Amino acid sequence: MSVNELGGYGRFQYHNNQLHCEDVPLAQLAAAEGTPLYVYSQATILDNARAYLKQAGNKALVCYAVKANGNPTILRLLAEAGLGADVTSGGELFLSRHAGFAPDKIIYSGVGKLRHEIEAALEANIRALHVESEMELAQIAAIATERQQIARIGVRVNPDIPVETHPYISTGAAQHKFGVSPETAVSLLHTAAQHPWLQPVGLAAHIGSQIQALEPFAASANFLVSLADELSAGGIRLEYLDVGGGLGVAYESEKWAVKSEKIGAWVNTVSQPVRRAGYRLVMEPGRSIVAEAGVLLTQVIYTKTQGAKQFAIVDAAMNDLLRPTLYGAYHEILPVQVRRTSEVRRTYDVVGPICETGDFLAKDRVLPPLAPGDLLAITHVGAYGFAMSSNYNGRLRPAELLIDGSQTHRIRQRQTYQHLIDTLPQAESNL
Ligand code: LLP
Repeated sequence: MSVNELGGYGRFQYHNNQLHCEDVPLAQLAAAEGTPLYVYSQATILDNARAYLKQAGNKALVCYAVKANGNPTILRLLAEAGLGADVTSGGELFLSRHAGFAPDKIIYSGVGKLRHEIEAALEANIRALHVESEMELAQIAAIATERQQIARIGVRVNPDIPVETHPYISTGAAQHKFGVSPETAVSLLHTAAQHPWLQPVGLAAHIGSQIQALEPFAASANFLVSLADELSAGGIRLEYLDVGGGLGVAYESEKWAVKSEKIGAWVNTVSQPVRRAGYRLVMEPGRSIVAEAGVLLTQVIYTKTQGAKQFAIVDAAMNDLLRPTLYGAYHEILPVQVRRTSEVRRTYDVVGPICETGDFLAKDRVLPPLAPGDLLAITHVGAYGFAMSSNYNGRLRPAELLIDGSQTHRIRQRQTYQHLIDTLPQAESNL
C-alpha cells in the first residue's frame, strides 16, 4: 500500500502531500513549536461530544472521563458544550471546577478516595460520590456527619461481565478491584438510605475500556436496571443509572470509521433499557470523545540497521506516549510530508531515546524510507496520551496545541529544565 492510498482520516488529511490538522499543515506547527508535540482538532472533540449529547437527549447526563485528557482548555471546551465530568481524584476534581463544570454535573468514581478528597467533593457539592467499598461508605458517612451535610451516594457495582479488551483495562469482572458485588451494592444503598446524612441516588457500572462490541454494554445496562428495580421493590427509588464509559475507537487504519455513528449506536444500546425503566441515564465516556482528535508529532533523529531490524529512532518516547509500552497498543503512524511515494517502503521499529527495550512506539511498521529530520504523526493519541506522560529519563513533557480551523492555540507549554527542579525544597533547588 502506498502512503497516498493510506491517506489521512477525519480532520487529519493530506493536502498537497502535507498532512494537516483541520486547515493547518502539521509541518508548520512542528517547525514553530518543536517536537515531540501533541496536536488536537477542536472540531473533532466537539463533534464527538455533541454526538453523545444529541443521542442522549436533554435528560441524560454525559460526564466526560477527565482521566482521558485533562488539559484545562479541552475541559473548558467540553464544559461549555454542556457535558459534565467524571473525576477520579482530588486533582481531577480541582481541574473540573477550574474548567467550569457545574458541580451538579460532576460525579466522583474511584476505589481509594482520601479523606481530603471526600471533603473537597462535599465542599464543592458535586452530584454524587460513587462508593466502591463498605469502608469507604463508612468514611463518607463519618465525614458527612461531622460536616452536617447530606452526601449523595451512588454505588459502583461490579456486574461480572467479561469483555474483550486488554486485561489491564477490563474492569467489570468479579476478580477486579472495582465496585462491589450486587448483594453488597444493595446492602450499601440500604445503609445509605437509613443514615441521616447519606442519600442514595444512583447505581453505576463501568465494565472496561476500548471495548468494540455493543453486547456487553447492553448486558451491563440491563443488569443495572434489574438491580435498580430490585432496590425499588425494597423501597429505594434511585434517580439515575450510570452505565460508565468504555466505547472503543478504531486504532488501525483498516477499521477507521465514522465515529459519531458508532457513538449514536452505543448511546442507543445503553439508553433503551434505562429509559424504558424510567431512570435518568448517566454515562462516562472518555476515549471515544478525544482519542481520534489528537496526534503526536515526532521527528526522526537517526536510523540504524541492527541484525534483521531497521530502527527509526525518534524524539518521542514512552514517557510521551506510554500505551504501546504498557499495553502493546497499536497506533497508526503517518508521514507528515509525502516526498518520495515511488520509493520502496521499509519495515521499521519506531523507538524513542529512553533506556529501556520497552521504549517503542511501533514495531515492524511499514513506512516510506526514513531519514533524520522526517516528521511522523502518531495518530489517535488524544486519549491517554499526554495524560499518561511523565518525566522519566529526565525528559520534558511536550507542548499541546489545539487547532480550530486555521487558528492555533497553544494549550500547554513545553516543560523546561526548570520544571525538573521546581518542586524541590528551596535549599535543594539552589544547589
Ligand atoms: N469511567 C470510569 C470509572 C473509568 O475507570 C474509565 C476509564 C472511564 C469512565 C472512561 O473509559 P473510556 O470511555 O475512556 O474507555 N489508560 C488506558 C485506559 C484506562 C481506562 C481507565 N478507566 C488506555 O490507554 O487504554
